[in-house]
Amino acid sequence: MLKLDSIVAGYGRTRILHGVSLHVPKGGLVALLGGNGTGKSTTLKAIAGLVKVQEGQILLEGRDIDPVPAEQRSALGLSLVPQGKEVFAGMSVEENLLMGAYHRRKHRNEIAEDLESVYQRFKRLRERRKVYAGMLSGGERQMLSIGRSLMARPTMLLLDEPSAALAPRVVEEIAEAILSLRELGLTLLLVEQNVGMALDIADYIYVIRGGRIAYERAVGEGVAMEELQEFYLGGKDHD
Ligand SMILES: Nc1ncnc2c1ncn2[C@@H]1O[C@H](COP(=O)(O)OP(=O)(O)OP(=O)(O)O)[C@@H](O)[C@H]1O
Ligand SMILES: [Mg+2]
Repeated sequence: MLKLDSIVAGYGRTRILHGVSLHVPKGGLVALLGGNGTGKSTTLKAIAGLVKVQEGQILLEGRDIDPVPAEQRSALGLSLVPQGKEVFAGMSVEENLLMGAYHRRKHRNEIAEDLESVYQRFKRLRERRKVYAGMLSGGERQMLSIGRSLMARPTMLLLDEPSAALAPRVVEEIAEAILSLRELGLTLLLVEQNVGMALDIADYIYVIRGGRIAYERAVGEGVAMEELQEFYLGGKDHD
């Protein structure tokens, strides 16, 4: 479904990604792990069109999406849930969700349906639909951020550290929500620093270090935690 082929990208003249290749099959749940500042968000931003790709290709269902500007990538089915649980604090929960459907604003019936399905998925958002988003807990804000992305009817969701700064119980809730999205047929690329959570739900993992993929493995093939830590924290490099 999504293929990154030797992506080089960065900010201005600074290169952050030095040839990142990865593959997310249709319906798959792939995790991209790595420490702070290793290029995880930059990778997702490159896919979303928010960072310019200098070399290499991003293929979505075989099509090079380089010419497609960021604001048109949601029409291709791509949706980014950005890092930091960003919401419009001064707007209600429901207004935030409707913002996610902004580019589909002519399809009012569909939007009402989608709102209902977000509320079914995240019951707490329904209870709090009239509350200012700025009043929500961290977990609720993450749910809102995911819900807002779902309002764009994506086929592929890019999630940037959804579990960050959340209590373990809430992380579990988010993990379950992600799994349920996968059951819906969505394709997911999950950026995480929570290795345990990623190993629990992903079927394939990549570890990025210094803008390069340092390790990759199918989770079913028995990813050893110690081995992973070694690649994660430094020391070993890709063969
Ligand atoms: N807008 C920007 N302008 C210049 N440099 C940036 C910008 N955003 C990120 N960087 C730099 O790019 C590098 C990679 O950043 P990136 O956000 O991709 O890391 P990350 O893996 O997502 O880290 P974290 O887990 O902390 O979110 C870092 O050195 C960072 O300082
Ligand atoms: Mg990041």
